[in-house]
Amino acid sequence: MMKIDNTSITAKNVGETVTLYGWVNKKRDLGGLIFIDLRDRSGIIQLVVNPDSKVYELASTLKNEYVIKVTGTVQMRQSINNNLKTGEIEVIVNELDVLNRSAELPFDLNNVTALEDTRLKYRYLDLRRSELQDKIITKHKIMNSTREYLNSLGFVEIETPILCKSTPEGARDYLVPSRVNTGSFYALPQSPQLFKQLLMVSGFEKYYQIARCFRDEDLRADRQPEFTQIDLEMSFVDENDVMNVTEGLIAKVFKDVKNIDIELPIKRMTYEKAINLYGSDKPDLRFDMPINDITSCFLDCEFKVFNDVINSGGIINAIVVKDAADKFSRKDIDKLTLFVKVYGASALAFLKYDNEFTGSIAKFVNDTIHQKLIKTLSLTDNDLILIIAGNKKMVKASLGALRLKVAKDLNLIGDAYKLVWITDFPMFEYSEEEERYIACHHPFTMPQNVSELDDKEHALAKAYDIVINGYEAGGGSIRIHNMEVQDKVLESLGLSKEEANTKFGFLLKALSFGAPPHGGLALGLERLTMILSNTENIRDVIAFPKTASASDLMMEAPSEVSSRQLDELHIKID
Ligand code: AMO
Repeated sequence: MMKIDNTSITAKNVGETVTLYGWVNKKRDLGGLIFIDLRDRSGIIQLVVNPDSKVYELASTLKNEYVIKVTGTVQMRQSINNNLKTGEIEVIVNELDVLNRSAELPFDLNNVTALEDTRLKYRYLDLRRSELQDKIITKHKIMNSTREYLNSLGFVEIETPILCKSTPEGARDYLVPSRVNTGSFYALPQSPQLFKQLLMVSGFEKYYQIARCFRDEDLRADRQPEFTQIDLEMSFVDENDVMNVTEGLIAKVFKDVKNIDIELPIKRMTYEKAINLYGSDKPDLRFDMPINDITSCFLDCEFKVFNDVINSGGIINAIVVKDAADKFSRKDIDKLTLFVKVYGASALAFLKYDNEFTGSIAKFVNDTIHQKLIKTLSLTDNDLILIIAGNKKMVKASLGALRLKVAKDLNLIGDAYKLVWITDFPMFEYSEEEERYIACHHPFTMPQNVSELDDKEHALAKAYDIVINGYEAGGGSIRIHNMEVQDKVLESLGLSKEEANTKFGFLLKALSFGAPPHGGLALGLERLTMILSNTENIRDVIAFPKTASASDLMMEAPSEVSSRQLDELHIKID
């Protein structure tokens, strides 16, 4: 018979004999009575061992994390503990079996002060804590809810290969050497993108997969080298169809997992507006503080720096921190200046408004500028204005990041969930690193107008991202289903026909055999789990995550391999 959950025992069971299993979470010896907090996945229940019990001696040898089985009688507690689900009752132990002992723990599970590295090394112990278990279980619930929803709409769950061909666009691939094909490599999939398109060519019409993806990229708090996508693709659809299915999915997941009602339809914002107002294509809308263009306020000013910026086609933008001027000392502003330097800003100007302007550029604020600023920024007393001037890309990125930092520092971020679709993404973006235009989404994304493809700065794509609380929770697009258009886009990306054929010849060929119009999207399962379990650390929602340097401290992966293994692969380490 399966064990029962500790927390299924309630006041209704008083007088009954129950058998319970679990770990000793804590033991207290109080005036002869031994109290044990017994923990299982469901939670904690209090056990009591009386001094005259035949198991008293054995009970007194118990230590934290010993695994035990007890049989005892349920009784009401004298002092109720409202913090516990089982806080009204306790179990008087009559029989006790020690099923296993535990070595001394590397850290206290009830009071975790250990460094994250220690906790990662003993991840299986850290995962005993309900705080982490809850997050892993939240992820399970999201997957369950996703499958229920997509199955009900007629989607088919299909697995795609993990050993794939290296495709050049996107992040760096993880490569796997082939033993039987000396000198050749597989790549682990960055996403099932090409396979799901091929499944549309095959006629499956509605596909989904909870798919593992691998990307060898610099890691951040919301990025892991291996992660999971809720990946879907549909035939005979336009952007609205994909967005509607996704909205239904997100609404069901929020309801099932958190009992939260999402207001549908989800608000939409163009990429251009998001960049202009929030300096980001993943704006956090849980607080206001938009970016304002104040270039026109300074058209005739005496400040050389601003004049030079305007004359060279740059912009002057500002964020207003409402009613907070008195909270910022000169030192605080210096810190913010250092912060924006990371984003390429050479300086951060500031003004404080209190009927008059004070601050770093106050002496350049004449009457006209004074009036224009009050009007453009709707200023009221005690407002702080943070200003950056320069080229548009740098100004928007710096103020976008500053907006987030200030809101975090001042605790302005509300706890409501704010969802927004970002639409009308550019088709291309210029990569400084590669010194060429690359696909903003991926090279299989349908342009809004094929005739616009030559205007790389302005061509738009049929692509959309879903953003939740400032996280890119997912993204997708309508795909190119026509070989001529696909050829043209690859050509715009600077790929010759031969190169394109070597790299994605199989896809191009498939498109020539009656590919249906199709499109889809992928949600980041970890990002959704982070959002629904209120953590900013992606490692919290992965059972066995990697560190920032992409290693697993528990398994000690990656690791060296034997020379025999290398010889078989014909690989020499330099
Ligand atoms: P994209 O690259 O935008 O699209 O990925 C989709 C979503 O996956 C999540 N994500 C990540 N999560 C954790 N760690 C990472 N390293 C990581 N990288 C991405 C994000 C992101 O929004 N094939 C396309 C989708 C499509 O067009 O259908 C794709 O992979 O939440």
